[in-house]
Amino acid sequence: MPVKKKAPKKPSSGPTSRKPTPFVARPAIHPGSLLSVTSLSLEEVRNILKLADQLERESPARRNQHLFKRRISLLFYESSTRTRTSFELAAKALGADTTLVSDKSSSIEKGESLKDTGLTLRALGAECIILRSPYSGAPYLLAETTGLPILNAGDGMHEHPSQALLDLRTILSRLGKPSNVGSNTLKGVTITICGDIFHSRVARSNALLLSRLGACVILCGPTPLLPEAAAQIAPEDATGRIEIERDFSRALQRSQVVMMLRIQAERLAGLALDLEEYKARYQANAERIAQYAPKAVIMHPGPMIRGLEITSEVADGPQSVIEEQVHNGVAIRMALIARALSTSKEKKSSR
Ligand code: CP
Repeated sequence: MPVKKKAPKKPSSGPTSRKPTPFVARPAIHPGSLLSVTSLSLEEVRNILKLADQLERESPARRNQHLFKRRISLLFYESSTRTRTSFELAAKALGADTTLVSDKSSSIEKGESLKDTGLTLRALGAECIILRSPYSGAPYLLAETTGLPILNAGDGMHEHPSQALLDLRTILSRLGKPSNVGSNTLKGVTITICGDIFHSRVARSNALLLSRLGACVILCGPTPLLPEAAAQIAPEDATGRIEIERDFSRALQRSQVVMMLRIQAERLAGLALDLEEYKARYQANAERIAQYAPKAVIMHPGPMIRGLEITSEVADGPQSVIEEQVHNGVAIRMALIARALSTSKEKKSSR
């Protein structure tokens, strides 16, 4: 094999001769995007809740005029029932045309990149893309490459911001709190999130949002599913706090709200769990709830594994608001889509 001669070094003529590293400007994130709950000010959270109330009250005929014939794409690289359906129903209720692209039966299966898929959808007239992805951070890439408003419908183990907002709407309604939220709205309220915290984007988005409204968020679960470091995710502007409690009964005794989470088998990556021991320590069952949290509001973002993290008696029982959570998804997602398409690009970029 011929050996290449090294090119002689060019003589340096001082610092001014050095070419600066080319700066590649990344397109600003469209301010109508929602990629993380951390990008929302409390004023924006209030506005979203208010808009959700307003849109829900409107007649279908009036609602239909808001985004009549605007084009929204749903790009789903991961399975979903609640999020996909409610985003689609929300967009249609506002009069928009929707297209669904999923990883199965699209060119994604042939290896097309997220960037090229996004640019293709934009070229076809999409004005907003709703993305679910198994990869944390994927919505940021799509936002930067397309310049379109992107709504994060759940990205890997990172965030699920629309779920946290619909959960907040449910909690406020059940606790009789105003939707005009501020930093002390949930002062004195303790919310336990129990289960597979480590793999859960729902737990992260909820903990980040609820702790900014004054709530004490207790994260509960065994060490492999809840590392000690999780207590440190509280944002700088948290007015509440995030704690870890390994004893579920103790957490229940302190809580007005209990959010159960599924064990995410698809993300366990070889981690072996003794499910019988898990159920014995962390299952929300009728006896445990009656003994330690007889008045608590019971939540679950779904999908539930009945008989594992929660029993049917509890999931279908009088304390459960699981269906109300699903119902609230449509109003919140109508507000997010309307916000995405009414926020001008000229406004300050925010993530
Ligand atoms: N809560 C939630 O994200 O459910 P889906 O996976 O069914 O959308």
